[in-house]
Amino acid sequence: MTEKRIYSAPGDKIETKHPVLVSRYRGITRLNHWVTALCMILLLLSGFSFFHPSLFWLTGLFGGGQTTRWLHPIVGLVLVASFLLLFVQMWKLNLPRREDVEWSLKIGDMLKGDEDKLPELGKYNAGQKLVFWGMSALIIVLVTTGIMIWEQYFPHLVSIPVRRVAVAVHALAAVGAILIFIVHVYAAIWTRGTIRAMTRGTVTGGWAFRHHRKWLRELAGRQHTDPSK
Ligand code: HEM
Repeated sequence: MTEKRIYSAPGDKIETKHPVLVSRYRGITRLNHWVTALCMILLLLSGFSFFHPSLFWLTGLFGGGQTTRWLHPIVGLVLVASFLLLFVQMWKLNLPRREDVEWSLKIGDMLKGDEDKLPELGKYNAGQKLVFWGMSALIIVLVTTGIMIWEQYFPHLVSIPVRRVAVAVHALAAVGAILIFIVHVYAAIWTRGTIRAMTRGTVTGGWAFRHHRKWLRELAGRQHTDPSK
């Protein structure tokens, strides 16, 4: 069976040839990503301010306790909408593939910088896919429990004992999302040349060849057969 056009998203293409630059994210996807990131940071800061009295001072960033309490769930809904838009664009390329297993087993080689020993990959590696699905699952938990404890608009949605459980699950899911967030940002900085994918939208040909060779091969093949793409 041919493996045509399954590793790349619309808009991915080899941009220039001397030097080789490859388009990885369109402007609209980058905007979508940074809105999501901004929401996450606001949620993190406002959420921490409710977590423990010693962190209450963080409400000062949002104009006081009442405003923070009002704002936090609203930003949560914006994050859900924004992440959903990212999700529809990216879920297919984040589906697990056979090479992900081998890549994960050989992750030690990757950390040593011996990436040549690893299998060739499409647009995302297993780590990125874990971040994607982990965030997706936790965001569902966060929004579900968040609505259950949103007293201002849904005061009688659940009983008090259920609400107590929902508060605990909400906080635990938030800790999980923060850990994934830290791993995501660390990996983006650690893998040199990655940040520009989300700032300028392009990566170098060398970066694409080293980290996502199947994706690059597919784009090269596509443009070779149809130079207008
Ligand atoms: C300030 C914080 C953040 C930075 C610096 C950052 C950076 C990046 C970079 C550089 C990429 C491109 C990686 C690549 O294409 O190989 C990326 C992709 C992505 N980011 Fe972020 N990001 C941040 C926050 C977030 C947040 C909060 C979320 C979700 C809640 C998120 C979700 C994603 C997703 C879904 C992708 C696509 C790749 C994948 O499936 O893992 N990012 N990010």
